[in-house]
Amino acid sequence: MRIILAPMEGLADVHLRRLITAQGSYDWVVSEFVRVVDRPYPDRVLHNICPELQQGGRTASGTPVRVQLLGNHLESMASNAQRAVQLGSYGIDINFGCPSKTVNRSMGGAVLLKEPDTLFRVVSAVRAALPKSVVVSAKMRLGFDDTALMLDNAAAIEAAGANELTVHARTKLQGYAPPAHWDELGKIRAHIKIPLIANGDICTVDDYHRCVAAAGTVDVMLGRGAVKLPTLANQIRANQSIEAQWSSIIPLLNSFWQDISLVLPPRDCVGRVKQWVNYLRQLHPEAETLWRSIREEKSSQNMNTLLAAMIH
Ligand SMILES: Cc1cc2nc3c(=O)[nH]c(=O)nc-3n(C[C@H](O)[C@H](O)[C@H](O)COP(=O)(O)O)c2cc1C
Repeated sequence: MRIILAPMEGLADVHLRRLITAQGSYDWVVSEFVRVVDRPYPDRVLHNICPELQQGGRTASGTPVRVQLLGNHLESMASNAQRAVQLGSYGIDINFGCPSKTVNRSMGGAVLLKEPDTLFRVVSAVRAALPKSVVVSAKMRLGFDDTALMLDNAAAIEAAGANELTVHARTKLQGYAPPAHWDELGKIRAHIKIPLIANGDICTVDDYHRCVAAAGTVDVMLGRGAVKLPTLANQIRANQSIEAQWSSIIPLLNSFWQDISLVLPPRDCVGRVKQWVNYLRQLHPEAETLWRSIREEKSSQNMNTLLAAMIH
């Protein structure tokens, strides 16, 4: 069984990655995406998106981080992949799932699921640029509007030499609306030989079992479930659901606050805490109470006082 922490732009940044991988045992974590244009980026861009590259390519708890690239410019995808690996990335992941209109307009992310040949070319270019020992993975959705090209897309990614494929069990059109269509993953599993990593709506140990039964794989990627319950990966590994303890989340919130306060503008810090609490309240009733007291909050000083008071 392998458990991977999902890339989540603007949410699972270096700070949350550090916290979550310290709470749960993850095989690796995928960075937020680097939007590749028509030229190689200077190292500082890669370091900005994946600061772990400056600490051996691992989170503080030692979990390897894989840089995710998004784009369709073949030479540039290849050269940026090469550089990210030289800087310490644990392989390269290619994003074929991003639903953002802006990203899709410039022919990156999920829009490429309309063109299996383009997927093939992009993965081939990245694969050819890297030593065989370096893992190339791709992350896709079931399709853009529908699942008609789902198997062709998976086969194209495999034929291009990807070592593994993660599939978020929804089309771009389905966005994030429940349910995730785990049964479709089973069809992809039967169609390709490379490892399949199942993703979408795994938020409990029971979800894990139902998902892997439908998908025919034991490897999963956890996204929002891990944000709401940072110990989810360990619960899945132990096959034991443990009721979430709010008292164990409070120190994490404080640690997150301390961490981001050192590097982000105060206003952003307040926003980031609200963002996380907004996820937490879906699972922890106490977070709902906290949410009500902070949702209109703008002052970082007040937030600091409030969070500090919670810990005492
Ligand atoms: C805030 C947010 C940002 C995301 N950013 C990315 C991203 O940068 N790259 C990517 O491949 N998927 C991204 N995703 C999709 C997730 O990786 C994952 O596929 C999706 O959330 C479904 O899994 P989950 O139900 O476990 O969250 C993002 C999802 C969320 C909620």
